[in-house]
Amino acid sequence: MSSGKFHPKASHPIGVFDSGIGGLTVAKAINELLPNENIIYFGDTAHMPYGEKSPHAIKSYSEKIAGFLIEQPCKLVVIACNSASATAFKQVQNSLPDKNFVINVIDPVVEHLVSDGNYSKIGLIGTKRTVSSAVYKKKFEKANPDIRLKSLATPLLAPMIEEGFFNNKISRTVVHSYLSNPHLSDIESIILACTHYPLIINEISSFYKGKVTIINSAEIVSQAVKQFLETHDLLNKGKKAPKHQFYVSDYTSSFEETAKIFFGGKIKLKENNLWNEK
Ligand code: DGL
Repeated sequence: MSSGKFHPKASHPIGVFDSGIGGLTVAKAINELLPNENIIYFGDTAHMPYGEKSPHAIKSYSEKIAGFLIEQPCKLVVIACNSASATAFKQVQNSLPDKNFVINVIDPVVEHLVSDGNYSKIGLIGTKRTVSSAVYKKKFEKANPDIRLKSLATPLLAPMIEEGFFNNKISRTVVHSYLSNPHLSDIESIILACTHYPLIINEISSFYKGKVTIINSAEIVSQAVKQFLETHDLLNKGKKAPKHQFYVSDYTSSFEETAKIFFGGKIKLKENNLWNEK
């Protein structure tokens, strides 16, 4: 894409994407912090779960979606997926007209925990792709080698949540079974390194009973978005009520249900399989 075509304006929406409903936790946090902003959300339900896909596949999906969001035009792209942030951030940056106009969900969390300095024994749960990439580990080692990170892949969780299994007996059992893993004993805080996981925060809290601090990246990322827009003088100061648009690459009823929980009953889900375009 040529940089000549990219003229972000404050009135343009923020583009947010994930493999499915997980990124809605980030979109919701952005909406709460910045209620004036318009949001375009893309859930790549046709390719979910990203956590099981090859880095090559995730890079190609992410690049396509980011390109779609910039064409709308969005003023900023938020990769609201850890698996994509861990594997495709550079690829997305390089594909956009200006590589600064994309935010991932990993850097803000690492920066937040490092500057806070409250924890040295940190746990992490995420998809296989995020954990095997060791991106968090490398970033913490670089920023503060005293931080010890214990990561555990929890591959059942994102598909379980995507199917609408949260706040119930099954999700509680699965979450408790994963968190009982001895690898995660002796941690002071735990990073929810998958944007689907705030939807099972009740199950996670009921396991730790306040003994471990739960790091919800959605809120931290929304702060990073706010800071970015302030710095670039792109905060929407218009008086019109904000408009949100939701796209999926393949219609699923569970996506629609969850989007309604987060954004109220009025949302209209549009199916747009970018890969079927002629
Ligand atoms: N929500 C995503 C993440 O943060 C992806 C889950 C998946 O599709 O496997 O990693």
